[in-house]
Amino acid sequence: MADKNNFKTLISTLTIVLLAFSYAAKSESQHSQLIHRFQQYLQINTAQPTPNYMPAVDFILLQAKSIGLDVQVLEYVKSKPVILLTWQGKAKSLPSILLNSHTDVVPAEKEKWVHEPFSAHKDSNGDIYARGSQDMKCVGLQYLEALRNLKDKGFVPLRTIHVSFVPDEEILGRDGAQMFVGSKDFDSLNVGVVLDEGLASPDENYRVFYGERSAPWWLVVKAVGAPGHGSKLYDNSAMENLLKSVEIIMRFRAAQFDLVKAGLACEEEVISVNPVFLKAGTPTPTGFVMNLQPSEAEAGFDIRLSLGANAESLEKRIAEEWAPASRNMTFQFKEKEPIKNKLGVPLVTVANHSNPWWTLLEAAILKVGGKLHKPEIFPAATDARFVRRRGIAAFGFSPMANTPILLHDHNEFLNEAEYLKGVGVYEAIIESYASYMEAVEDRDTLSEL
Ligand SMILES: *[C@@H]1O[C@H](CO)[C@@H](O)[C@H](O)[C@H]1NC(C)=O
Ligand SMILES: *[C@@H]1O[C@H](CO)[C@@H](O)[C@H](O)[C@H]1NC(C)=O
Ligand SMILES: [Zn+2]
Repeated sequence: MADKNNFKTLISTLTIVLLAFSYAAKSESQHSQLIHRFQQYLQINTAQPTPNYMPAVDFILLQAKSIGLDVQVLEYVKSKPVILLTWQGKAKSLPSILLNSHTDVVPAEKEKWVHEPFSAHKDSNGDIYARGSQDMKCVGLQYLEALRNLKDKGFVPLRTIHVSFVPDEEILGRDGAQMFVGSKDFDSLNVGVVLDEGLASPDENYRVFYGERSAPWWLVVKAVGAPGHGSKLYDNSAMENLLKSVEIIMRFRAAQFDLVKAGLACEEEVISVNPVFLKAGTPTPTGFVMNLQPSEAEAGFDIRLSLGANAESLEKRIAEEWAPASRNMTFQFKEKEPIKNKLGVPLVTVANHSNPWWTLLEAAILKVGGKLHKPEIFPAATDARFVRRRGIAAFGFSPMANTPILLHDHNEFLNEAEYLKGVGVYEAIIESYASYMEAVEDRDTLSEL
């Protein structure tokens, strides 16, 4: 009898061990499938300026169908597909949730990488090297993996969940997010809150962004003046006029940078102005004509305004000091976007407990063991600005802790464990957002800085 009992115990122990083992094996293989799908997406070369969008569309649609999401491909501009996936919620009248990512990536100088940038090579640490591993193919696929897991768990969303994959973010999003957010299709989604990209965090705390500096103002200043022999000293040559401007602009730049260096402001609180090209001279096959002072000279600047910056006064400064007509100068903006919405309100989403979307986001991240920095202003432009301009709440968040910031850099990588952790974080956020009952009015989620 006793023997029989011992035997029974032994069998049940064995069963538990076997079950645990098979569970571990299953989750092991699930993990490797998840990583494999991430690598597959990374291997599709969607680098600007010639992104190969169609294979990315095919890949995303395949994933969406295997998860059981409704799919749509919207083409506002030819060959620039916006992929829109939908998981219909029970409460159709409640504002929906939109999970956005961009499909394009910036180019990579392949010779300067340790692993080929579109190989998605995984090294022995589990670091996956690829252009887009941080910015932001990780996020796009993490959304999908989170939805897959939620479906498997039998989760039933109250609010409808949309996932968008948009083109051309890296070239300012004009033919991508801007068209999409301005469309009737977008209106009909009744979006209540948007998640979009953030940045990696080198420490253990995740970063969340509730606003961003202005989209680039790309300024070109041009000087003209009388041409002359290289040997002649005379006033007001085009070169002299341009260099005076460059000097004045660089002085402004130094004053802004000094505030940062002195710790009086952080980078997103000042106006950055950086020279990006100088163009002058009369070219020859081997260089430039050296005995001729040119009649035209140009310089280009990338300018980013802080949220608190006074755009009008900067424009006045440009017209009066940086490129005055009195110095034979003209200027032109290649790009210039507003830093406030139509009501004159800075484009920020409230990131405190008066905004339930913030409360839910923070709680969901903490619930799965994530830690958070104080919410921040994104230093550059993302697609989130288009939805914020419409008064819709948007948070920039890419769940990458303990990760060096390598977007647009050589050897961009993300560790597989960090990637998997991020999937769990999105599961918690999406579950919480999609279960949230109360109507959240848009006007409560935006406010003055
Ligand atoms: C402006 O350009 C014209 C012709 O290119 C030149 O004659 C004049 O001296 C310039 N004036 C100034 C202030 O640079
Ligand atoms: C939340 O932030 C907004 C805008 O920054 C501010 O007006 C409001 O007082 C804050 N509310 C709380 C509860 O902190
Ligand atoms: Zn990005």
